[in-house]
Amino acid sequence: MLFLYFMRKILIKNIKTLVQNREHTDKPLGGRQMAELPTINNAFLLIQNGKIDDFGDMQNCPATADETIDATGKMVFPCWCDSHTHLVFAATREGEFVDRIKGLTYQEIARRGGGILNSAQRLRDTPEELLLEDAYARLQEIIRQGTGAIEIKSGYGLTLESELKMLRIIRELKGMSDATIKATFLGAHALPPEFKDNRKGYIDLIINEMIPRIADENLADYCDVFCEKVAFTPEETERIIETGLKYGLPPKIHTNQFNSMGGIQAAIRHNALSVDHLEVVNDAEIAALQAAPKTIATLLPSAPFFLNDHYPPARKLMDADIPVALATDFNPGSSPSGKMSFVISLACIKMQMTPEEAINAATLNGAFAIDCQQDIGSIARGKSANFFITKKISSIAQLPYSFGSDLVEQVFIQGKKT
Ligand code: NIG
Ligand code: FE
Repeated sequence: MLFLYFMRKILIKNIKTLVQNREHTDKPLGGRQMAELPTINNAFLLIQNGKIDDFGDMQNCPATADETIDATGKMVFPCWCDSHTHLVFAATREGEFVDRIKGLTYQEIARRGGGILNSAQRLRDTPEELLLEDAYARLQEIIRQGTGAIEIKSGYGLTLESELKMLRIIRELKGMSDATIKATFLGAHALPPEFKDNRKGYIDLIINEMIPRIADENLADYCDVFCEKVAFTPEETERIIETGLKYGLPPKIHTNQFNSMGGIQAAIRHNALSVDHLEVVNDAEIAALQAAPKTIATLLPSAPFFLNDHYPPARKLMDADIPVALATDFNPGSSPSGKMSFVISLACIKMQMTPEEAINAATLNGAFAIDCQQDIGSIARGKSANFFITKKISSIAQLPYSFGSDLVEQVFIQGKKT
């Protein structure tokens, strides 16, 4: 049976526009290249063995297949790559949402012991099975919305046991889903209350116990630090990055969300795969990023949307030819949404990215930000058949334009309908 399934050829024909067909994807798209989005009008896509077998103009469409889907009037996109999320969490935090409406800031709530510490307390008290069930439901929801790859961070544990618990849940998710999933260790997300007066003690715990144990159990792909005034300094960030690298975990760093304090430079010095947030960036930092073309600037516009803060200077970053990715930052505090199509709308409306730039940022550059560009992020022969078919739409720009609609009709991951 399994053999027969893999032999089956599925043909999508009469596709109004096949989007992001790119075979050679060895470098992330620099900001200036992002303006161009390859497409084929009146196209077909053939899949077999969970992979993209062929695609092209309808004139060259194969005559038969085991299953044929007519996509007249519809478009086909590679699935979104959401390269920054905190999908595993115990509870929503709408109490803090109301506190912010009444005037408190995100940082004030954090300083009072709310925010990340609130989520950490709830996570420690919640059984692993329940956390897994909720995280899996969230994953299923975002897959229905067109996401085919996702990075998920720990960071609501903040003890060895609870960080391991989070990372084990992410490992379970990897086994339960065909979506591409990457795990990032974020022990340095906030200083836990037990270490309130002993910063060095917590960092030593991360360096001497957490990272070695996590690497030993092969529970993470990357290492993250929240480099910010309410969290960790650039010096502390570098100590953690260096240990992560020693144990084979490349850095992806939260930085410049509220303050410019050297986090970007610290990350770049260690060849970070990405620097994420960047709501606040100065010219020196843009110049530093320009000199580090492999480090992706991952922008998370649903966080400043939700916190009513200002947006990252996407245009300035792209004009400097820096590769930009877009991700949701799905988490209970600053972005309780994993909806990539909304992120793309925000990128266009609030950050002056064109639809083409935003789609490049949400697909191929997102794949680079989790080092999966060989397998996903574009329509290319031999890549995994991770794509979605839209409803009938009039143009690519209708996607960010219709920000309240669900225009994704059918999602395929590894060639399977989800
Ligand atoms: O990326 N900034 C740090 N971490 C998350 C928010 C986490 C939370 O508030 O629970 C972020 O915005
Ligand atoms: Fe985040």
